[in-house]
Parts: sequence; structure tokens; C-alpha cells
Amino acid sequence: MASIKRIGVITSGGDCGGLNAVIKGIAREAFSKGIESVVIPNGYAGLYNLIDMEKVVLLNAERVSKIEASLAGSEAGHSRVKISKIKDDRKYDRIKDGLKKFGIDALVISGGDDTGSVVVDLSGQGIPCVHVPKTMDLDLQPYSVGGDSAINRISLFARDLKTTGMSHNRILVIEVFGRYVGHTAFRGGIGAEADCILIPEIPVDFDEVYAHMKSTYFNRIERSDVKAGTYIIVVAEGLKMASGELLYDESAGVDAFGHKKLAGAGKYVRQQLEKRLKTDPDVPAFMKKTGMYAPGVYEFPEVREVTPGHLVRSGASSAFDVNFGYRAGAAGVLLLLAGKTGHTVVDVEGEKVIYMATTEAIKRREVDIKEIALFESLGTCFGRKPQSYDCEFVEMKGTVDRHL
Ligand code: F6P
Repeated sequence: MASIKRIGVITSGGDCGGLNAVIKGIAREAFSKGIESVVIPNGYAGLYNLIDMEKVVLLNAERVSKIEASLAGSEAGHSRVKISKIKDDRKYDRIKDGLKKFGIDALVISGGDDTGSVVVDLSGQGIPCVHVPKTMDLDLQPYSVGGDSAINRISLFARDLKTTGMSHNRILVIEVFGRYVGHTAFRGGIGAEADCILIPEIPVDFDEVYAHMKSTYFNRIERSDVKAGTYIIVVAEGLKMASGELLYDESAGVDAFGHKKLAGAGKYVRQQLEKRLKTDPDVPAFMKKTGMYAPGVYEFPEVREVTPGHLVRSGASSAFDVNFGYRAGAAGVLLLLAGKTGHTVVDVEGEKVIYMATTEAIKRREVDIKEIALFESLGTCFGRKPQSYDCEFVEMKGTVDRHL
């Protein structure tokens, strides 16, 4: 590969925590090697339109110091544009012309599975580029920046919602992003000590959810000296029925990458619980026993759904994501300089930059449901009959290399 003098920085797909640290990591590592880095704004849309831009922003020391790594979102901007889908036969030449215009020799691109597939595509077209894993969904093979921040935000929202839930004795269903996997719903839900967590990897049985809700919630309120209690359900937007069908609202449409916009799982869960509460003969007795019953006005506990939506990936980045983002961004530059185009940063371990082929890195990783049984034994409902946790014991020898 010809020597690299200038790197273009692209962030693509959905924004999330830690991305500004990735950008700073790229810029500062490049600077330390005597290489310039510039922002290609707004993801692949900006890459396609680079040729028409008058200037690009140079990430020099002064500009980089204005970027706040602890804030989520991306200073480089985003779009959900997949280059191969652009209706222009000259699109790759147009991109190459744009890169030439600004003297950009190679790209460090941070994004998820769709973004990674474009890294493979561009690399195949002879454009040197490497991939830094980013997605709050955590569905890539390596850890992706943004996951930890999203887990913390979900956990915070679910915990905070308990105060209003308790005050009204409501059952709260919190629908969270995560696309087709339940990593962030699972870990965020556990972080908030949610009563029930519903993830796409486990098709939901609503009779099980109802039974768990009834015993937990009824007991909680009956035992409370002020007759107060709530029941918290965290549901991943990509939840599935036992038939394998997604529980989403078709009317939400598709995004620019061509993915279904997932919405409606929380509403569906609410409706299923309401239906059961209204026909359960034990409910009026419970309402009377706990002093809540008001004929014709308040005969059943209320179920409400809350959708934090984009809030779970906004605001602050977790310290973990700032750490990971910095080192993954820097590792992206090192990988590029080593000529590893079409590869994804996995992590840095001591003096090792760990990487893998982007084609492999973007293969979907789901929640390992073997671990779920452990949390079921601790009392959390996952929308199925609790299963037994059959573990094996593995003794580690020597030292453990990495903890964070
Ligand atoms: O892929 C990240 C993600 O946050 C998903 O969890 C969610 O379904 C999607 O992006 C929402 O995308 P958009 O911001 O385009 O609505």
C-alpha cells in the first residue's frame, strides 16, 4: 500500500456512546505518527458527496480538543446510507474522486454490521479502510463501543421509573432499542433489578409473564405497610412470539439501510397483561384487600408502556466506552498503517492489537441463553418457565490477562 499521509474518519449507522473517543483516538494516534486526519461528515452520505464539498475539517490538536469524549453522539455525524444501494453507476469512481480531491489515502470507519459490510465493499473496490466496531445493540462478534453506555442508560431509566411506578402501583413496561438481539435489554434490565426481561432470543410465553407478575406484584403490595409496589418489565424492541414472528408495528416502515423500524413490542406486552388482568377472578379480591378498589373507576391495576427510544443512546458516554473508544480508534490507525484493510479492531491487549476479518466480525451475535437460567434461579422472569442452571466448573491456571 502507498504511504498514508491523510486519513478520513467516518462514523455510520446509529450514533451512540463512546464515538467521540473513537474519533479522538484516531486523530491523536494519526497525529503521533505524523499523519493528518479529517472528518468526512454524515457517514457514507458524506463520502458519496465528498467530491462536491468545498473543504473538510482537519482534526488538528486544537479541533480535537474541542470534542468532548464523555458526550455520546458523533462529532463526525451519521447517516444510514449503504453505498451499494445508491442508484448511481459511477458511485465508486465518484467516491474515489472525492478522496483524491482532498488527498485522503485511507479510511477508518466506525459502525455496526451494515457499516462493516460497506467496509468490505469499499475495501474490495481498492479503497484502503478498516472498521472500528460500534453499535449499542452489541450484536457484532467483538465488543462494540456504545454498548456499555446504552446498558447504563437503560438501567438508569428502568431504576428511575420505579419511583413513579411505586407511587401509582403501576406495572411498567419499558421498551428499549437493540434491534434483533437482547444484549442491552438483558444487561440493562439486570442492572436495574427489573422483575422481568423479555428478549428476542427467548420467544415469550405471556401466561408465564402474567403468573410471575401476579405473584411478585401482588405479594409486594400486600406486604407493603403503605400498600405500594410496582413491577418492572424491560422488553427488547425485537421481541418475538412463540411462532418466531416479530412483535412490531408494521406501520413504522423501514430505514435507509432497508431494515424494519422496530416499534410496538412494549404496547403488545401491555395489551397481553391487561387482557389477563381483566379476566382474572383473583384481581378484584386483590384490589379490595389492598384498599385500591373503586367500583367503575379503578378495578384493575394499570399497565403502562414507556419507550425511552433514542434517549438510551444519547447524553453521556460511560467511562468504559470512552476507554474502549480511545484505544479502538487508535488501534484502527495502527491496523490501517499495517495494511490490514477490510479488517475490524477487536481490542488492544498490552502490546497486541487484536483484529479480525470484517466479514467475520459482522456476523450477528445473540445473547447466550445458557446464562439466562442463572438469573432465572435468582428470581428474574424471562418470559418462559424457569430452566435449571447446569454449570460446569473450569479452573483457570496462571494469571487472568484482562478484566476491562
Ligand atoms: O442499531 C442501533 C439502533 O439504536 C437500534 O437499536 C434501533 O432499532 C435503531 O438503531 C434505531 O435507528 P434510528 O436512529 O435510525 O431510528
